[in-house]
Amino acid sequence: MPNPAAPTADAGHGVHPFPHRHLTGIFGLQPWEIGFLLDEAEQWIALNRGTAKHDNRLAGLTVINAFFENSTRTLLSFEIAGKRLGADVVNMSVAQSSVKKGETLIDTAMTLNAMRADVIVIRHEASGAVQLIADKVDCPVLNAGDGRHEHPTQGLLDALTIRRRKGRIAGLVVAICGDVLHSRVARSNILALTALAAEVRVVGPPTLIPAAIERMGVKRFTDFDAGLDGADVVMMLRLQRERMSGGFVPSPREYHALYGLTPERLARAAPDALVMHPGPMNRGVEIASSVADDPLRSAITEQVEMGVAVRMACLDVLTRARRGIEGWA
Ligand code: NCD
Repeated sequence: MPNPAAPTADAGHGVHPFPHRHLTGIFGLQPWEIGFLLDEAEQWIALNRGTAKHDNRLAGLTVINAFFENSTRTLLSFEIAGKRLGADVVNMSVAQSSVKKGETLIDTAMTLNAMRADVIVIRHEASGAVQLIADKVDCPVLNAGDGRHEHPTQGLLDALTIRRRKGRIAGLVVAICGDVLHSRVARSNILALTALAAEVRVVGPPTLIPAAIERMGVKRFTDFDAGLDGADVVMMLRLQRERMSGGFVPSPREYHALYGLTPERLARAAPDALVMHPGPMNRGVEIASSVADDPLRSAITEQVEMGVAVRMACLDVLTRARRGIEGWA
């Protein structure tokens, strides 16, 4: 689908449709810039579905995935994305790195920089860590999730999944449910989906919804059934216990009874409502297996597929200037 708000030469947006050196968050992106990245991702879906999954446009460039926090799908997704574009992809595992010897984040960043990385992809447990590194290095930096702050490629891949399954984003009612407080996925999704004119609701226990979330342009619901009422998209989030500092929720069983997505609960949403989850899922806690595995309703595996395409688009767009193609930085 074309991006209706894409800038034209006389639209006053400047010459390049993505005038950013880094992708540290959805915050600060214009709606047409988000649309541009989604449009760019479309071409990679077709390539990824074919047998010869190769495009060599990043040949010769080095992508370093520096993951200071555990990850399965995001790390793999970035690695596959870089390799399919022909880059040399190196994964830095914290378990074997000098971080364990007390090296500061800035020193690690300067080391990666000195190795002349062309893109650094970073996941870190501290909100703001990615921006800190972006300010110090010479190459584009991509945020793969920092603390509770942002996870922009997840926001983009979710928006792409919704756009493809529903044909649009504007005007849809999207309910983001569960542990919104600790979720960078929720933040990036709220920013992306409200920018693209969806009506976003956040639904969860009062202890897990940030104060003043309404300022982000969303509606708050603490009653799960009310929050689901008529929703076009139901996005479930895991209880992120590793980021909790106290007793935010009762037992998993009690949580499931109040805020778990079951077929009965889903019946409250629109008849063709799409079910999403960024993973990892805690089956039987925030989502019942019968819902997660329902091929007609669940877009969970499609989200993973869109993730590779979106990351290919981001790696391509952010390295254009380095490759002598018009671009920023
Ligand atoms: C999420 C993350 O790491 O923020 N997972 C992901 O990237 N797919 C969500 C989570 O950890 O619950």
